[in-house]
Amino acid sequence: MVLMTVDAATIGVSTESLGEPAELGGLFANGGPIELEIGCGKGGFLLRQAQAHPDRNYLGIEWANKYYKFAADRMARWGITNVRVLRTDARHFVIHRLPPSILSALHVYHPDPWPKKRHHKRRLFSPAFVDAAVRVLEPGGRLAVQTDHTEYAEVILERLTARMEFEPMPFDDPDHGTVDERTETNFEVKYLREGRPIHRFAFRRRA
Ligand SMILES: C[S@@+](CC[C@H](N)C(=O)[O-])C[C@H]1O[C@@H](n2cnc3c(N)ncnc32)[C@H](O)[C@@H]1O
Repeated sequence: MVLMTVDAATIGVSTESLGEPAELGGLFANGGPIELEIGCGKGGFLLRQAQAHPDRNYLGIEWANKYYKFAADRMARWGITNVRVLRTDARHFVIHRLPPSILSALHVYHPDPWPKKRHHKRRLFSPAFVDAAVRVLEPGGRLAVQTDHTEYAEVILERLTARMEFEPMPFDDPDHGTVDERTETNFEVKYLREGRPIHRFAFRRRA
């Protein structure tokens, strides 16, 4: 038996190493589909998904250095070979660096809501990001979003529903880690404990 090992320096990748456009396939040993989680935090969702689906590949993008390092170390500790973590601004990366049809799934759980009106321009789900999400998902690919912020949920839903390329699909999808409508990310657990409402939706990229 060949025992594969992986260290945190391999799991944490730099944007510069990815080329232009970013060819993610070269990051992974198997040629399986690639799923992206934006704002992966400490990496709990990625870890569970990577363990459940060794034939798939997972990229997490995390802006906060502390969480990026935590997630990369965590994957290394568990010997996870099908995850890579990138520290960058996911909005810029998805809009400007990813080639078309590269992702089989895009997960966005509890994106920062930036509740003040003057900060809305910092939100992830800008019109340009929605354009990019349509572009980078392969036909049949899945976009799943979850937020506790009602006004932001309405904005996101309106922008996604307006796109003919997306058709709504059930959020609950054990094959993509959402069981009984739970993703079990840290923020989901925290917000459910606090009794906040959670808004969840998923779309399929039409062929
Ligand atoms: C509210 S937390 C949610 C974390 C995790 N998804 C969860 O549900 O527990 C939002 C995370 O997204 C990260 N983040 C915010 N904006 C980002 C961006 N533009 N690019 C990458 N990560 C971002 C933050 O650093 C933070 O870790």
